[in-house]
Amino acid sequence: MGGKLGTIFARAGHEVVFSYARSVQKLKRLAREAQGSARAGTPDEAARGADALLFAVHWSRADDVLKQAGDLSGKVIVTCSLPMNAEDTGLVIAHTSSGAEELSKKVPRAHVISAFGTVPSEVLFPVFENRRKAKRPSLVYCGDDGGAKEVAAGLIRDVGFEPEDAGPLRIARYMEPFTLLIAQLAYEGAGGPELAYRFERFG
Ligand SMILES: NC(=O)c1ccc[n+]([C@@H]2O[C@H](COP(=O)([O-])OP(=O)(O)OC[C@H]3O[C@@H](n4cnc5c(N)ncnc54)[C@H](OP(=O)(O)O)[C@@H]3O)[C@@H](O)[C@H]2O)c1
Repeated sequence: MGGKLGTIFARAGHEVVFSYARSVQKLKRLAREAQGSARAGTPDEAARGADALLFAVHWSRADDVLKQAGDLSGKVIVTCSLPMNAEDTGLVIAHTSSGAEELSKKVPRAHVISAFGTVPSEVLFPVFENRRKAKRPSLVYCGDDGGAKEVAAGLIRDVGFEPEDAGPLRIARYMEPFTLLIAQLAYEGAGGPELAYRFERFG
């Protein structure tokens, strides 16, 4: 998710720092291939001076990456991470809370937005390539800070989705289980993982 979204953000004109992987070479390759203004760095370097941070790690890595990122006061953190168990077979937090809400408790002075986690990574480049088409797919997002939500909505549009404001951060507790439905359709269904969704309103 981080590699693909970072690449798209760079191609959309943002300055991107790829960070957090076991291989610096991988981060450097991502930066090179992004073809925009991108570089590799540590989580701390990525966080410093950034207008927005994408939190895209396995749930088990959350504390480690936060420790490496340092002080995130005032930062916009867009999370696509799902609170999955070690085997990736189920959510370890659900119904009464969400990964996004628990992340927000870990960094109370940052502005956490939940976005991008409801679609498979395989659909991101196809959506970006089709961004000039009239009918864009939807992408739900939620959060508690108005300014941070505007930043997230801009990034969502840059990728090629139509942002669908789902309300406050606690709505992530409904979004995250919805993602498991999308994953079922994407990875177990017949049509393949290049799957997005679109809300239509009638009347
Ligand atoms: N993949 C999807 O389609 C999708 C869709 C919706 C939501 N999500 C959620 O998004 C989050 C990211 O998913 P992903 O599929 O992008 O995961 P991923 O491919 O495993 O990427 C996570 C990043 O964390 C790094 N990492 C893992 N262990 C590390 C360690 N011990 N030290 C340093 N870096 C480490 C990985 O680097 P390495 O190269 O070293 O592994 C990679 O850069 C997850 O919470 C997932 O539930 C994923």
